[in-house]
Amino acid sequence: DFPEEIIVARQQAPLVIGFGAGEFFCASDTPALVSHTRTVLSLENGELARLTSMGVEVYSFAGERLKKSPRILGWSPVLVEKQGFKHFMHKEIYEQPAVVRACLEAYLDSDWQPGNPNSPINLNLPKELCTDVEQISILACGTSWHASLIGKYLLEQLANIPTAVQYASEYRYAPAPLTPNTLTIGVTQSGETADTLAALGMEQQRRAGFTDKFRSRMLGITNRTESSIAHMMPHVINTHAGIEVGVAATKTFVTQLMAFYFLALDLAHQRQTISTERLAEIIAGLRQLPAEIEKFLEIQEQYVEELSHQFTETQDFIFLGRGINFPIALEGALKLKEISYIHAEGYPAGEMKHGPIALLDAKVPVVAIAMPGSVYEKVLSNAQEAKARDARLIGVTPKQGVAEADIFDHILPVPLVDELLSPIVTVIPLQLLAYHIAARRGLDVDQPRNLAKSVTVE
Ligand code: M6R
Repeated sequence: DFPEEIIVARQQAPLVIGFGAGEFFCASDTPALVSHTRTVLSLENGELARLTSMGVEVYSFAGERLKKSPRILGWSPVLVEKQGFKHFMHKEIYEQPAVVRACLEAYLDSDWQPGNPNSPINLNLPKELCTDVEQISILACGTSWHASLIGKYLLEQLANIPTAVQYASEYRYAPAPLTPNTLTIGVTQSGETADTLAALGMEQQRRAGFTDKFRSRMLGITNRTESSIAHMMPHVINTHAGIEVGVAATKTFVTQLMAFYFLALDLAHQRQTISTERLAEIIAGLRQLPAEIEKFLEIQEQYVEELSHQFTETQDFIFLGRGINFPIALEGALKLKEISYIHAEGYPAGEMKHGPIALLDAKVPVVAIAMPGSVYEKVLSNAQEAKARDARLIGVTPKQGVAEADIFDHILPVPLVDELLSPIVTVIPLQLLAYHIAARRGLDVDQPRNLAKSVTVE
């Protein structure tokens, strides 16, 4: 009856209106609009909009006309171009040095020198957010959940704060007891994951009736400062990764890790749980990361690509890691599953002997992440156990350790960095491995079947 107009309404799932030159758009996510316009307006729950060729009118659900002004996104349309890459995912893997650099620029004091008693980190968070915090609860899904597991390792080992990481989709149905000294952190790159928002909403309600200080002990870590989580949370850390188009999270994952490094180090500094020497060492290591990743991509990508071609027909993969690299084993397996449709499992290397080792034979390649440090020898010995079952072994390990690591059939040589920082370099060959296997299989790498970039339904 009204062919010249579209009526849209928002309830829970996000809805964004775009303003072009004589044309108007609506979408469930801002990146969809960037190649058309950067002038956008996000509707709130319970709001309606009427789009015609003359303009956009916004109403409350009760029919009252609302005055709302659009805002200009800070993103450039170049971010949604492939710039010579065949797929966005590949381009986004290559953007990782730049986004890690952007995080360093945003949060690290460039003039800070060892010996300076002030914190080198400024996350723009009020000090009282973390004073007296006795435990941290992190809620997330998918790759953000993997980043959160590394966050837990850092917060516990550096800042000495007991930390629990929960799948947001599970947490709502079995929430942990909440104490006034709990800091709740929601991690979501899109800021729109329905399960994460619902779990955080429940936590907000559970806090109602408590003091202001307790109510505001909630923090969001997101790549989208205009998203629902950013509106919902009293405090936010922006991960500065720019738009990520590929459904498989890559650059947003490493920037979530950067956010956790900064948070854990800042808390460790405030609580004096880190020596000044160790702090200076980690800061120096963080500053080196962009150059290390660049070098890796330049020198090793071709080898990873050639190697990946040997696995295009493989049906099952196992990824092993321990300590801070166990979540990277999970992430390597998830990347492979979601874009190449090859079954893969990530496992803590020491747990193989409790069951999954029965899966191994010559047809199941095993990727072992072996970084020199506290669990290096243990991982090598677990890899040896896999080799004894005829598994083809791929080591993600630095060249420097190659003599001890000659058990591997293939090595993806990563830079030798501090064990604590190693997830940022060990994840990259796994992203590339998944990417090249999927691309070689001719699959739709950026938009794998059954998946969406923002999962806005529960
Ligand atoms: O936007 P979010 O970080 O909340 O997304 C969570 C997951 O849906 C997401 O990480 C998903 O697992 C990715 N496809 C992983 O590559």
